[in-house]
Amino acid sequence: MARILTGIQSSGRPHLGNLLGAILPAIGLSKDESNESLFFIADLHSLTSIKDPGVRVENTNATAAAWIACGFDTEKHLLYRQSKVPQVCELTWYLNCFTPFPMLANATSFKDKSEKLSDINAGLFTYPVLMAADIILYDADIVPVGKDQKQHLEMTRDIASTFNRQYGDTFVLPEAQIDENVMTVPGTDGQKMSKSYGNILDVFADEKPLRKAVMSIVTDSLPLEAPKDPDTCNVFALYKLLASSEQIAQMRDNYTGGNYGYGHAKQALFELILSTFKSERAMFNQLMANPQEINDRLRSGEQKASDIADSVLSRVRKRLGYN
Ligand code: ADP
Ligand code: TRP
Repeated sequence: MARILTGIQSSGRPHLGNLLGAILPAIGLSKDESNESLFFIADLHSLTSIKDPGVRVENTNATAAAWIACGFDTEKHLLYRQSKVPQVCELTWYLNCFTPFPMLANATSFKDKSEKLSDINAGLFTYPVLMAADIILYDADIVPVGKDQKQHLEMTRDIASTFNRQYGDTFVLPEAQIDENVMTVPGTDGQKMSKSYGNILDVFADEKPLRKAVMSIVTDSLPLEAPKDPDTCNVFALYKLLASSEQIAQMRDNYTGGNYGYGHAKQALFELILSTFKSERAMFNQLMANPQEINDRLRSGEQKASDIADSVLSRVRKRLGYN
C-alpha cells in the first residue's frame, strides 16, 4: 500500500486553479483502493504570510470544506490541520540541525522574495524544512505536487537521506509525483491563477461576486460583430477546461462566426462553472454554515495523523538520544 500525502496552504480561499490542478487530481488518486491518503491544510506555513488569526481560520475552514465538498472521503482517509499535529514542529527543529544553510539560501521560494531581506521572516527562510517534516513525519511514499514544489521535494529527500546516512534507516524517502500534463489554469488577467496575484475565480463564491469576477476576465476589444480567435482568448481557455467536446466545438464556432461578443462567452463560462460545481457549491455552503461539522471531520483525521506522528517521532528521538 502506498501512502500518498499532500498539503495546501491556507493562504486564501481555494480557487479554480487549486481545484483542477491539485484537489480533484488528488481525490482521484485517493479513490485507488491500494492507496492511503493523508491530505492536510498547511496552516502553519500560511503564518509566513497571513498574520490575522480570523482570516487564517476562515481560509482553513474554506480549504477543508473544499476538499470535503469535492468528494474527499474523510472516513477512509485523513484530512487534518498541520497545526493540530504539533509534533511536526519538534521534527522541524531536529531537521533544521541537519539542513545546510546554503541549501535554504538556494530555495527558489526564498530567492524569489529575497531582494528585500528586511521583509523576509525566518519562517519563510526555513519553510522547506517544515515542509520536509510534514512529509517524513508520516512515512509518506508519494507526494503529488505542482512543478513549483519540485525543489522542496528534492530538499526533503536530501535532508532525510543525510539523517539516514548518519543514524541508520529512519525516514522513508518520498517520491514527488509531478504530473507534467496538469493544466496551468489561467487567472482573470491571463497569468497563472494564484491567490497572490488577485486574479482568481472562487468557484464557491456567491453568484454575484463570481459573475463579477468572470466578467472581469481580460480580453481584447474587438467589437461584437467581429470574428474572434478562440485560441488567444482567456475566456475560451477557461471554458475549455470545463466544457464537453461538443460544447467546445460549438464555442469555437461562436467565436469564429462573428456576432458573438466576449460578454456572451463570459456568461456561458459563468453558467458552466455554476453547473459543473453545482453539488460542490451546495455542500461547501452547507459546511461553511456549520463549522462544527468541519471541525469534527478534521478532528478524526488529526487523531489518526497524531498516532502516526508519535510512532515516527519516537523512532527519531531514540536515534538522537532524546527518548
Ligand atoms: P496559489 O498560487 O493560489 O497560492 P498554492 O501555491 O497554494 O496556490 O497551490 C496549491 C496547489 O494548487 C498546488 O499543488 C499548485 O500546483 C496548485 N495550483 C495553484 N494554482 C494553480 C493553477 N493556476 N493551475 C493549476 N494548478 C494550480
Ligand atoms: N508548499 C506547498 C505549496 O505551497 C504546501 C505544502 C506544505 C506541502 N507542506 C507540504 C505540499 C507537504 C506537499 C507536501 O503548495
